[in-house]
Amino acid sequence: MATFSPQFLDEIRARLSVSGVVGRRVKLIRRGREYVGLSPFSNEKSPSFTVNDDKGFYHCFSTGEHGDIFGFLMKTQNLTFPEAVERLAEEAGVEMPRQSAEESREVARSATLRDAVEAGCALFEKALWAPEGRKALEYLKGRGLTDETIHRFRLGYAAGSGLKSTLLKKGIPEDVLMEARLISPGKEGRDSFDFFRDRVMFPIFDLRGRPVAFGGRVMGADEQPKYLNSPDTPLFHKGQIVYGLSLARELASTKREIIVAEGYMDVIALAQAGFTNAVAPLGTAMTETQIELLWRIAPEPILCFDGDRAGQKAALRAADRALPLLKPGLSLRFAMMPAGKDPDDICRRDGPEAMATVLQEALPLSEVLWRQLLGEHASDTPERRAALEKAAEAMARAIGDGSVQNQYLRMFKDRLFTHFRPPRAPQGGQAPRWSKGKGQGKGGSRDFGSRPGSVFPPSRPIHPGAADESDRIRERILLATLLNHPQMFDLVEERLGGIMFSDHRLDSLRQTALIHIAQNPDLEFTSLGTYLQGLGFAAEIASLLHPDVYLHAGFARPDTPLEQATVGWDHTFALCQRAGLEADLKRAEQELAENPTEQAFAVFKALREQAQASGVGDEDRGEV
Ligand code: UTP
Ligand code: MN
Repeated sequence: MATFSPQFLDEIRARLSVSGVVGRRVKLIRRGREYVGLSPFSNEKSPSFTVNDDKGFYHCFSTGEHGDIFGFLMKTQNLTFPEAVERLAEEAGVEMPRQSAEESREVARSATLRDAVEAGCALFEKALWAPEGRKALEYLKGRGLTDETIHRFRLGYAAGSGLKSTLLKKGIPEDVLMEARLISPGKEGRDSFDFFRDRVMFPIFDLRGRPVAFGGRVMGADEQPKYLNSPDTPLFHKGQIVYGLSLARELASTKREIIVAEGYMDVIALAQAGFTNAVAPLGTAMTETQIELLWRIAPEPILCFDGDRAGQKAALRAADRALPLLKPGLSLRFAMMPAGKDPDDICRRDGPEAMATVLQEALPLSEVLWRQLLGEHASDTPERRAALEKAAEAMARAIGDGSVQNQYLRMFKDRLFTHFRPPRAPQGGQAPRWSKGKGQGKGGSRDFGSRPGSVFPPSRPIHPGAADESDRIRERILLATLLNHPQMFDLVEERLGGIMFSDHRLDSLRQTALIHIAQNPDLEFTSLGTYLQGLGFAAEIASLLHPDVYLHAGFARPDTPLEQATVGWDHTFALCQRAGLEADLKRAEQELAENPTEQAFAVFKALREQAQASGVGDEDRGEV
């Protein structure tokens, strides 16, 4: 890439004022030595965006964005640095620096290479709509793609013969075709041949939307590999390109949001469903370069993962790998798909609203990491708590940026403190912090009937009820029923994840079991029991699976049919919740009487509303 001398850049800065460049996008009003206006980076009503021509900078107090004229163009128009320089140089009437002889050769060579790839792309595209491409076109339509989408992504068909001869005839030399990896050398002195044969073609574009490589998918079910990708070429380095980014960044520039899916078809199906800001790495985990490319567009790209076990593991790996890269304001979010589904499946079978819900529930990186820690460490003995504490600290220390690291250390400390302390205070039932607000139903119910084992159950703290004896027995019933019927997990996961038990030990058992079942969807009772016993919960388990409990709740027994157990569980949960709510309300009332502050009143009011809303018919507040 070209580097620009500081003198050259200063020359441009000297000729253009920041207020002039910014003023084309933002209405600026002069105020003393500065200009102010409404921030282009947020949706604000009162101006917090300032421009200082003397200093050559703009600064946005609402988002913290800060930069010079080049940065402004990069941010607001999603240009690369050289692109921004080129535009502003032209505007300033400053001539771009001449390239060295070597650079010119390089440019000329990559130009012919580009021509070759573009010619290949056009050829594949044409073939798709010609008689020879019928099967491929039918395949794509069979996957629900419209003509418009197919054109937008320039999908094509490679027959496997004819590319070489056609492009040679067009005057593209064989060695260029070889370098573009459109053809492969023949073995043992035989002729070179087309690289992609009988495949549906997905061109891969660079940031300017020029094709630089391809992915080719088989149409049959058994052929291998499913996707054949161009090997790296001088134009294409797999780890440095994000599929779909050139198309996505147009939209993302206004919305500053990016969805990262796993593959070509996901990106395309998402775009067709209206999520035109979707991208994917190319058959590998995201590289550092790719993450940084995304951060230039969106501060918190949302990574989509399959909710199955492999997907959850992949999510945790991605979370770990992101740690060294984090910067103030720059992070990732994690959206877990229902198990066994990818965004393509969801958009097509369940519809865009279902996809929107999954995205809206995306967890911040910090939450994923915290849950990972809890999934790997028990906290029922001082030694185990110390191990958890150590692991949390080690995790935070992996963060490269000092201030982000500090924030993580602090957050872990706070969370560990709460985690180790038996639950007490009422929590007023607020929405989770990461929630973006919209569509947050009262009961937190979702659009999905089934959401099999997610590592990431929502952890909404609701009323930890007053610890009277009937609470305790109800809590034991809930756990006993679940332990004896792990198949219930999908049905009860969300609710069980949203309450806290008044008994500290049982609550820790509740959390541990939830996380363990979520991570091991096909779990048998025996292995869950063994696992929990191994973590030191033997006494609790014995007290749960006890005649005392079965006396109160026959349905909790291991030999009752699943359906009966489920009905019993639902009923007990409703009682538990109502009791918790009533206790909270009573306490809030007392507190209000003793200390009538505005805040106490707000808590009381919120609880009373909740109590009224959930009312007597609480039993059938089903999630399904
Ligand atoms: P998947 O096998 O999960 O398939 O590969 P998919 O994206 O759902 O594809 P469809 O829906 O069956 O068409 C995910 C991604 O991994 C890469 C591709 O980028 C693919 O989109 N991949 C997969 C390969 O590069 N090679 C392969 O053989 C398979
Ligand atoms: Mn798929």
